[in-house]
Amino acid sequence: MFFKLKTITLLLIGTAAVATAARAAEPIQPIKPVQSINLAQVELGKKLYFDPRLSKSGFISCNSCHNLSMGGTDNLKTSIGDHWQQGPINAPTVLNSSLNVAQFWDGRAADLKAQAGGPIANPGEMGFTHQLAVSVLASIPEYVVEFKQVFGDDSIDIDKVTVAIAEFEKTLVTPNSRFDRWLLGDKDALTPNELAGYDLFKNSGCIACHNGEAVGGNSFQKMGVMEPYQAKSPAEGLSAVTGKDADRFKFKVPTLRNVAMTYPYFHDGEAETLTEAVDIMGRLQLGKQFSEQENAQIVAFLKTLTGDQPSFLLPILPPSTDRTPPPKPFG
Ligand code: HEC
Ligand code: HEC
Repeated sequence: MFFKLKTITLLLIGTAAVATAARAAEPIQPIKPVQSINLAQVELGKKLYFDPRLSKSGFISCNSCHNLSMGGTDNLKTSIGDHWQQGPINAPTVLNSSLNVAQFWDGRAADLKAQAGGPIANPGEMGFTHQLAVSVLASIPEYVVEFKQVFGDDSIDIDKVTVAIAEFEKTLVTPNSRFDRWLLGDKDALTPNELAGYDLFKNSGCIACHNGEAVGGNSFQKMGVMEPYQAKSPAEGLSAVTGKDADRFKFKVPTLRNVAMTYPYFHDGEAETLTEAVDIMGRLQLGKQFSEQENAQIVAFLKTLTGDQPSFLLPILPPSTDRTPPPKPFG
């Protein structure tokens, strides 16, 4: 009896060790659930993320373009900003953005906090000023109390606003995708067709750029390695930040986590479907023309990267007061 139990334990340890070894050898790692965050900042940041009063129109919030009901994006080719302005570039997802090496397609913001101030004051996005956004918040007593509870002093400033939003964004990770369950040892989590897609993804070379926890997000690479990409948008990528000609048309490799939800694809949003995006990647990045079946297998694999979406109660925002500067949607 004792002997039997021992054998079982040993067997279990053995299996776990094999699973761990297999996982360590894979170029993609499972998404870790969020750890060590400041919960009070998260709650405040969540409100700010959903608050359209941080925009001039009183109508556009972070969630307008990074809709958490739709994979953290707007599913538009390029976004719609203040006064229905057509944006210049596709909105990347905010899901798992804390794993990015830097923020934006060209990496011009070092981290989430540095990023979060940008859209509020961008005339083509929320069209406001930091000063006005802060004066709106300061006119709402519930916000004043909450900022004080979270940061310990009476002043509200844009720095605290961006700290709180960035902390909330850290919670927007998506663990527990079917692919991650497979990585963690559940061999039945993927179908043979999906596994064939993963093999193609690795063996054709996609993995050279799309790897790590986020299956991307960790390097800047040229769009159009083997064949130039005919872009319709003027975005030039990393060279806009570094000034180096060699960085022209290098973009942050997008995460492929939840990619089934984040269409359309590429910085200009020109690829409408995953089938199209995979075909273009194969030809332009690897000089490889996938057959219809191979393409479908890679797409099937990519669809297994959809994880648990962030879930929380919709925040109820404190009402404006008589002192709150009114929104200017049309002025
Ligand atoms: C009008 C639409 C719009 C609004 C509103 C907006 N964004 Fe964005 N966001 C974009 C676009 C477009 C980009 C890509 C810009 C670029 O790379 O040049 C982007 C990029 C980002 C990124 C970088 C992601 C990555 O992978 O590089 C983050 C994070 C982000 N936004 C968070 C926010 C937050 C937080 C707010 C609210 C304060 C916000 N956004 C408001 C459209 C919007
Ligand atoms: C040399 C690096 C590199 C290789 C190899 C590569 N990619 Fe990409 N991938 C990128 C870059 C850079 C982008 C963004 C390009 C842009 O937006 O202009 C991208 C974008 C994508 C997108 C669109 C994601 C989005 O949210 O817009 C998908 C899907 C994709 N790649 C899949 C693949 C597949 C499948 C392969 C293998 C056939 C592959 N990639 C090979 C660098 C690479």
